[in-house]
Amino acid sequence: MKFTDSPTIELQVRSAHLSIHQDNGSMHVGTSVWPCSLVLVKFAERWSPLTSSSSSSTPNPYAHLLDFSNKRAVELGCGCGLASMGLFLLGLNDVVLTDIAPVMPALKHNLKRNKPSLHNKTLKTAQLYWTNPAQINALKPPFDVVIATDVVYIEESVASLVAAMEALVSDNGVVLLGYQLRSPEADRLFWELCARVFAIEKIPHEDLHPEYAYEEADVFVLRKK
Ligand SMILES: C[S@@+](CC[C@H](N)C(=O)[O-])C[C@H]1O[C@@H](n2cnc3c(N)ncnc32)[C@H](O)[C@@H]1O
Repeated sequence: MKFTDSPTIELQVRSAHLSIHQDNGSMHVGTSVWPCSLVLVKFAERWSPLTSSSSSSTPNPYAHLLDFSNKRAVELGCGCGLASMGLFLLGLNDVVLTDIAPVMPALKHNLKRNKPSLHNKTLKTAQLYWTNPAQINALKPPFDVVIATDVVYIEESVASLVAAMEALVSDNGVVLLGYQLRSPEADRLFWELCARVFAIEKIPHEDLHPEYAYEEADVFVLRKK
Protein backbone atom coordinates (compact mmCIF):
# COMPACT_ATOMS: atom_id res chain seq x y z
CA MET A 1 0.00 0.00 0.00
CA LYS A 2 1.48 3.30 -1.11
CA PHE A 3 0.73 6.96 -0.59
CA THR A 4 -1.14 8.00 -3.66
CA ASP A 5 -1.71 11.33 -5.35
CA SER A 6 -4.92 10.14 -6.95
CA PRO A 7 -7.65 12.75 -6.34
CA THR A 8 -9.83 10.19 -4.60
CA ILE A 9 -8.91 7.64 -1.93
CA GLU A 10 -11.25 4.67 -1.68
CA LEU A 11 -11.48 2.43 1.38
CA GLN A 12 -13.76 -0.47 2.13
CA VAL A 13 -14.57 -0.83 5.85
CA ARG A 14 -16.65 -3.92 6.49
CA SER A 15 -19.60 -3.55 4.13
CA ALA A 16 -19.25 0.22 3.75
CA HIS A 17 -17.31 2.15 1.17
CA LEU A 18 -15.52 5.41 1.98
CA SER A 19 -14.45 7.74 -0.81
CA ILE A 20 -12.34 10.72 0.18
CA HIS A 21 -11.50 13.66 -2.08
CA GLN A 22 -8.01 14.92 -1.50
CA ASP A 23 -6.15 17.94 -2.79
CA ASN A 24 -2.44 17.28 -2.80
CA GLY A 25 -1.78 20.66 -4.42
CA SER A 26 -3.04 22.61 -1.42
CA MET A 27 -0.60 24.32 0.96
CA HIS A 28 -2.27 22.52 3.89
CA VAL A 29 -1.14 18.95 4.53
CA GLY A 30 -4.55 18.16 6.02
CA THR A 31 -6.25 18.24 2.63
CA SER A 32 -4.44 15.01 1.70
CA VAL A 33 -5.14 11.56 3.10
CA TRP A 34 -2.03 10.26 4.83
CA PRO A 35 -1.36 6.53 4.68
CA CYS A 36 -1.16 5.78 8.42
CA SER A 37 -4.86 6.58 8.67
CA LEU A 38 -5.62 3.64 6.36
CA VAL A 39 -3.21 1.42 8.30
CA LEU A 40 -4.96 2.24 11.59
CA VAL A 41 -8.49 1.73 10.24
CA LYS A 42 -7.68 -1.58 8.55
CA PHE A 43 -5.86 -2.85 11.68
CA ALA A 44 -8.97 -1.97 13.69
CA GLU A 45 -11.24 -3.62 11.13
CA ARG A 46 -9.17 -6.81 11.19
CA TRP A 47 -9.52 -7.20 14.96
CA SER A 48 -12.80 -5.41 15.64
CA PRO A 49 -15.22 -7.51 17.69
CA LEU A 50 -17.77 -6.53 15.01
CA THR A 51 -15.64 -8.26 12.38
CA SER A 52 -14.08 -11.22 14.15
CA SER A 53 -16.34 -13.97 15.30
CA SER A 54 -16.39 -14.66 19.05
CA SER A 55 -16.71 -18.37 18.24
CA SER A 56 -13.35 -18.33 16.45
CA SER A 57 -10.79 -20.67 18.00
CA THR A 58 -8.10 -17.95 17.87
CA PRO A 59 -8.40 -15.52 20.79
CA ASN A 60 -8.62 -11.85 19.77
CA PRO A 61 -6.00 -9.89 21.77
CA TYR A 62 -7.55 -6.59 20.68
CA ALA A 63 -11.22 -7.35 21.38
CA HIS A 64 -11.30 -5.10 24.43
CA LEU A 65 -9.23 -2.29 22.88
CA LEU A 66 -11.44 -2.19 19.80
CA ASP A 67 -14.78 -2.60 21.52
CA PHE A 68 -15.97 0.95 20.92
CA SER A 69 -19.47 0.58 22.37
CA ASN A 70 -20.36 3.59 24.56
CA LYS A 71 -16.94 5.17 24.06
CA ARG A 72 -16.41 8.92 23.53
CA ALA A 73 -13.68 9.80 21.07
CA VAL A 74 -11.86 12.76 19.59
CA GLU A 75 -9.45 12.91 16.67
CA LEU A 76 -6.54 15.36 16.58
CA GLY A 77 -5.35 16.73 13.23
CA CYS A 78 -7.97 14.66 11.40
CA GLY A 79 -7.37 16.17 7.95
CA CYS A 80 -9.97 14.78 5.54
CA GLY A 81 -11.41 12.61 8.32
CA LEU A 82 -10.76 9.11 7.04
CA ALA A 83 -9.55 7.61 10.37
CA SER A 84 -12.60 8.72 12.35
CA MET A 85 -14.99 7.76 9.56
CA GLY A 86 -13.44 4.30 9.46
CA LEU A 87 -13.57 3.82 13.21
CA PHE A 88 -17.16 5.11 13.24
CA LEU A 89 -18.01 2.24 10.90
CA LEU A 90 -16.40 -0.06 13.47
CA GLY A 91 -18.69 1.11 16.26
CA LEU A 92 -17.20 4.41 17.44
CA ASN A 93 -20.49 6.30 17.35
CA ASP A 94 -19.55 9.33 19.44
CA VAL A 95 -16.57 10.97 17.80
CA VAL A 96 -15.57 14.56 17.18
CA LEU A 97 -13.11 15.32 14.40
CA THR A 98 -10.78 18.27 14.94
CA ASP A 99 -8.26 20.24 12.94
CA ILE A 100 -7.17 23.78 12.17
CA ALA A 101 -9.52 26.25 10.48
CA PRO A 102 -8.12 26.04 6.91
CA VAL A 103 -8.66 22.27 6.81
CA MET A 104 -12.33 22.46 7.85
CA PRO A 105 -13.78 22.93 4.33
CA ALA A 106 -12.06 19.75 3.05
CA LEU A 107 -13.16 17.86 6.16
CA LYS A 108 -16.78 18.98 5.92
CA HIS A 109 -16.88 18.27 2.19
CA ASN A 110 -15.70 14.71 2.80
CA LEU A 111 -18.08 14.12 5.69
CA LYS A 112 -20.97 15.23 3.50
CA ARG A 113 -19.73 13.18 0.55
CA ASN A 114 -19.59 10.05 2.72
CA LYS A 115 -22.77 10.65 4.71
CA PRO A 116 -24.70 7.81 3.00
CA SER A 117 -21.92 5.38 4.00
CA LEU A 118 -21.98 6.76 7.56
CA HIS A 119 -25.56 5.65 8.18
CA ASN A 120 -26.64 9.18 7.16
CA LYS A 121 -25.00 10.63 10.22
CA THR A 122 -23.13 13.92 10.16
CA LEU A 123 -20.11 13.37 12.36
CA LYS A 124 -19.21 16.17 14.79
CA THR A 125 -16.38 18.55 13.96
CA ALA A 126 -14.57 21.24 15.93
CA GLN A 127 -11.70 23.57 15.31
CA LEU A 128 -8.85 22.60 17.59
CA TYR A 129 -5.36 24.00 17.60
CA TRP A 130 -3.21 21.90 19.94
CA THR A 131 -1.85 25.09 21.48
CA ASN A 132 -5.30 26.34 22.48
CA PRO A 133 -6.41 25.16 25.98
CA ALA A 134 -9.78 26.92 25.64
CA GLN A 135 -10.59 24.85 22.54
CA ILE A 136 -9.46 21.70 24.32
CA ASN A 137 -11.64 22.44 27.36
CA ALA A 138 -14.62 23.32 25.16
CA LEU A 139 -14.67 19.68 24.00
CA LYS A 140 -15.34 18.59 27.59
CA PRO A 141 -12.61 16.01 28.12
CA PRO A 142 -11.84 13.36 29.15
CA PHE A 143 -12.34 11.02 26.18
CA ASP A 144 -12.09 7.24 26.16
CA VAL A 145 -10.31 7.28 22.81
CA VAL A 146 -8.02 9.86 21.22
CA ILE A 147 -7.22 9.19 17.56
CA ALA A 148 -4.22 10.65 15.79
CA THR A 149 -2.61 9.59 12.52
CA ASP A 150 0.45 11.07 10.84
CA VAL A 151 0.52 14.11 13.09
CA VAL A 152 4.18 14.06 14.20
CA TYR A 153 6.19 15.97 11.64
CA ILE A 154 7.03 19.42 13.03
CA GLU A 155 9.35 19.55 16.03
CA GLU A 156 7.87 22.85 17.27
CA SER A 157 4.36 21.32 17.46
CA VAL A 158 5.29 18.17 19.32
CA ALA A 159 5.10 19.50 22.89
CA SER A 160 1.61 20.96 22.37
CA LEU A 161 0.47 17.76 20.63
CA VAL A 162 1.55 15.56 23.53
CA ALA A 163 0.02 18.02 26.02
CA ALA A 164 -3.26 17.96 24.08
CA MET A 165 -3.28 14.16 24.08
CA GLU A 166 -2.65 14.13 27.83
CA ALA A 167 -5.40 16.70 28.49
CA LEU A 168 -7.96 14.90 26.32
CA VAL A 169 -7.55 11.22 27.18
CA SER A 170 -9.12 9.77 30.32
CA ASP A 171 -7.04 7.95 32.94
CA ASN A 172 -8.29 4.60 31.61
CA GLY A 173 -8.48 5.71 28.00
CA VAL A 174 -6.25 5.09 25.01
CA VAL A 175 -4.57 7.10 22.31
CA LEU A 176 -4.71 5.20 19.01
CA LEU A 177 -1.80 6.50 16.99
CA GLY A 178 -0.99 5.79 13.36
CA TYR A 179 2.66 6.70 13.06
CA GLN A 180 5.36 7.13 10.50
CA LEU A 181 8.67 8.88 11.03
CA ARG A 182 8.51 12.18 9.14
CA SER A 183 11.22 14.20 10.90
CA PRO A 184 13.99 12.76 13.07
CA GLU A 185 13.90 15.80 15.38
CA ALA A 186 10.13 15.64 15.84
CA ASP A 187 10.32 11.87 16.30
CA ARG A 188 12.96 12.08 19.03
CA LEU A 189 11.12 14.75 21.00
CA PHE A 190 7.73 13.13 20.56
CA TRP A 191 8.78 9.79 22.01
CA GLU A 192 10.78 11.45 24.79
CA LEU A 193 7.73 13.48 25.90
CA CYS A 194 5.33 10.56 25.42
CA ALA A 195 7.45 8.31 27.62
CA ARG A 196 7.03 10.77 30.51
CA VAL A 197 3.24 10.56 30.36
CA PHE A 198 2.25 7.35 28.59
CA ALA A 199 2.94 3.65 28.63
CA ILE A 200 3.64 2.87 24.98
CA GLU A 201 2.51 -0.30 23.21
CA LYS A 202 3.56 -0.94 19.62
CA ILE A 203 1.28 -3.24 17.65
CA PRO A 204 3.36 -6.03 16.09
CA HIS A 205 3.53 -5.66 12.32
CA GLU A 206 2.13 -9.12 11.77
CA ASP A 207 -1.08 -7.95 13.47
CA LEU A 208 -1.64 -5.11 11.03
CA HIS A 209 -3.84 -5.74 8.02
CA PRO A 210 -1.61 -7.54 5.50
CA GLU A 211 -2.81 -5.42 2.58
CA TYR A 212 -2.60 -2.16 4.53
CA ALA A 213 0.81 -2.41 6.13
CA TYR A 214 4.25 -1.31 5.08
CA GLU A 215 7.57 -1.24 6.81
CA GLU A 216 7.62 2.42 7.87
CA ALA A 217 4.09 2.59 9.29
CA ASP A 218 3.16 1.61 12.82
CA VAL A 219 0.18 1.62 15.11
CA PHE A 220 0.80 2.51 18.74
CA VAL A 221 -1.50 2.41 21.74
CA LEU A 222 -0.70 4.95 24.44
CA ARG A 223 -2.13 4.74 27.94
CA LYS A 224 -1.58 7.14 30.81
CA LYS A 225 0.97 5.87 33.31
C1 LIG B 1 0.05 15.11 7.86
S1 LIG B 1 -1.56 15.67 8.19
C2 LIG B 1 -2.43 14.19 8.65
C3 LIG B 1 -3.90 14.34 8.42
C4 LIG B 1 -4.73 13.12 8.80
N1 LIG B 1 -4.59 12.80 10.20
C5 LIG B 1 -4.35 11.92 7.95
O1 LIG B 1 -3.75 10.97 8.49
O2 LIG B 1 -4.67 11.90 6.76
C6 LIG B 1 -1.32 16.46 9.79
C7 LIG B 1 -2.59 17.13 10.33
O3 LIG B 1 -2.30 17.72 11.59
C8 LIG B 1 -2.88 19.03 11.61
N2 LIG B 1 -2.11 19.90 12.52
C9 LIG B 1 -0.82 20.23 12.41
N3 LIG B 1 -0.45 21.06 13.39
C10 LIG B 1 -1.57 21.26 14.14
C11 LIG B 1 -1.84 22.03 15.30
N4 LIG B 1 -0.90 22.75 15.90
N5 LIG B 1 -3.09 22.00 15.81
C12 LIG B 1 -4.05 21.25 15.20
N6 LIG B 1 -3.86 20.50 14.11
C13 LIG B 1 -2.62 20.52 13.57
C14 LIG B 1 -2.79 19.49 10.17
O4 LIG B 1 -3.70 20.55 9.86
C15 LIG B 1 -3.10 18.22 9.41
O5 LIG B 1 -4.46 18.02 9.19
